[in-house]
Amino acid sequence: MCGIIGIASSKPVSINIINSLKKLEYRGYDSAGIATLENNFINEKKCSGRVDELEKILFKSPSDGNIGIGHVRWATHGVPNIANAHPHSSESVSVVHNGIIENSDDLKKELEAKGAIFKSDTDTEVITLLITEELKKSQPLKSVFKTIKKLKGSFALGIIFKDFSDFIIGARRGSPLAVGYSSKENYLGSDSYALKSMTNKISYLDDGELCVLSKDNVSFYDSNEKKINKKIHTVSDEKNISDKGDFKNFMSKEIFEQPLTAKNCISEYLDSLKKDINIINFPLDPRNIKKIILIGCGTAFHSCLVAKYWLEELTSLDIEIDIASEFRYRKLKFDSDNLYIFVSQSGETADTAAALDICKKNNVKTCSIVNVIESTIARNSDWVLPIHAGPEIGVASTKAFIGQLIVLYILSLKISFLRGDLDKKIYNQKIKNLENLSNSIKKTLALESNIQLMAKEFLNARGSMFLGRGSSFPIALEGALKLKELSYLHAEGYPAGEMKHGPLALIEEGLPVIVIAPKDKYFEKTLSNMQEVIARGGKIFFITDNKKDSISENIRFGIRVPYLDSLLSPILLAVPLQLLAYHVALLKNCDIDKPRNLAKSVTVE
Ligand code: AGP
Repeated sequence: MCGIIGIASSKPVSINIINSLKKLEYRGYDSAGIATLENNFINEKKCSGRVDELEKILFKSPSDGNIGIGHVRWATHGVPNIANAHPHSSESVSVVHNGIIENSDDLKKELEAKGAIFKSDTDTEVITLLITEELKKSQPLKSVFKTIKKLKGSFALGIIFKDFSDFIIGARRGSPLAVGYSSKENYLGSDSYALKSMTNKISYLDDGELCVLSKDNVSFYDSNEKKINKKIHTVSDEKNISDKGDFKNFMSKEIFEQPLTAKNCISEYLDSLKKDINIINFPLDPRNIKKIILIGCGTAFHSCLVAKYWLEELTSLDIEIDIASEFRYRKLKFDSDNLYIFVSQSGETADTAAALDICKKNNVKTCSIVNVIESTIARNSDWVLPIHAGPEIGVASTKAFIGQLIVLYILSLKISFLRGDLDKKIYNQKIKNLENLSNSIKKTLALESNIQLMAKEFLNARGSMFLGRGSSFPIALEGALKLKELSYLHAEGYPAGEMKHGPLALIEEGLPVIVIAPKDKYFEKTLSNMQEVIARGGKIFFITDNKKDSISENIRFGIRVPYLDSLLSPILLAVPLQLLAYHVALLKNCDIDKPRNLAKSVTVE
């Protein structure tokens, strides 16, 4: 999703802006641009496509300003072309924006009635023209305050002014915005990761706040226009982890990093001496929790769905799950005895953050399970359980999914034990099994060559289906999501038992059907559902575990992941599906790390 950079320095900033924009590429984007201030002139350069293109433009015609803003755009209003790329500049101001201005049509009409001429189809240009109007009457800071009062929707803004050549204004409502500090320059960025090569000293703007950045000073203002102080955080140095190394792309690196993800995450939550789970500071006593509600989007929602099966199996609690974009508009009865858990890799997903805000307004206890601990969702929740996966750059979530599942599983075990739902002996055994998870993931990854063969069978397919029952159902959904987003091949995830209620009509000769069937209580049932597919010509790809032997002859390929503990199966079964999606996409020559139309951080609704 859109990414913003701003640098105020005593030396030319365009190269550092380009380098920082490259760091934001992982978010997903379709055009890029930069504007610098040079002798009271706004030097704006934009392109559709990649930051590399912008770099070539700057190489031919360099920008020299010491103050500048840059942007990568993920199109919401208007197609991805040069006119719609940010910055959007007028004769007096230049603006980069992440978010959506919901009342842009009305504001546009008002501005046009006053004679304004729009050059783009974006919602952002109204901000440029509103500030331009205000600047005729007020100073920059006042003009920005007055403008943002008229805006509905979400925004993170970076603004430079033709006649004020020594500062950038940043503003935030809904979309994230970070400020970075160094001795000779200061920075604005959509996230701390983009600023990492320049600084690890970061402050985060809260909703309604503004900042004014010059090369040697940063001032912050709250929504009442009062000067405020902000806390400066030191962000961890994970530079090495965010390097591709010898891997072809970030996604394959992140898939193969999963044994380490599991190891790191488990060691953060297991006390190896006491052989216990060291989760403390519950915002509610687990014995008194009435209901747990888990909320997320996309892959994170699939983690919630797996956790529902775990918590129902392990505890006597009522469990509810919801997709954040649905949850935030439901008419809900909030209960202070309920625990609301938000799952998010980025911690910046707009729908998840909004759902969390609603919970906060209703004074209920919130927990977030995030990868980015400095994120909005982490900062806004009562209790944070980090997944410790390290930066995930590939748009398709892999190691963060495994990390989310591990934290949710550990949390489920702990809640169950503290409530007295789980016997101490079984609890100890489950902890012991967890210690072998990393190794089992490693063994699962060793199945890659079989999965590569499987991937070839998908090349000419018109679509595919992923089936599972119980906790394998969310894994089917996740497998289908991965294949869709990476290879652009239609894929549907379904509960196997639901096929005969409609989707069976899709089965035709040769349609690839991935059946996920660990040897659990659903195994025989899933096999019956599979026979119904085989009878109609579906080409089965069977994924099971090595608990017992027996794979039917009608099955085209069988993958057997190690068996560890029936509750841990979903984690191991997810891995071959990641590899399958990866290899199909590779064979189809798709852009693995940046699939079309997608963004890593979905910061708009
Ligand atoms: C998964 O591969 C995705 N690209 C996507 O579904 C993602 O999980 C979703 O957008 C939620 O993101 P979050 O975890 O950062 O909140």
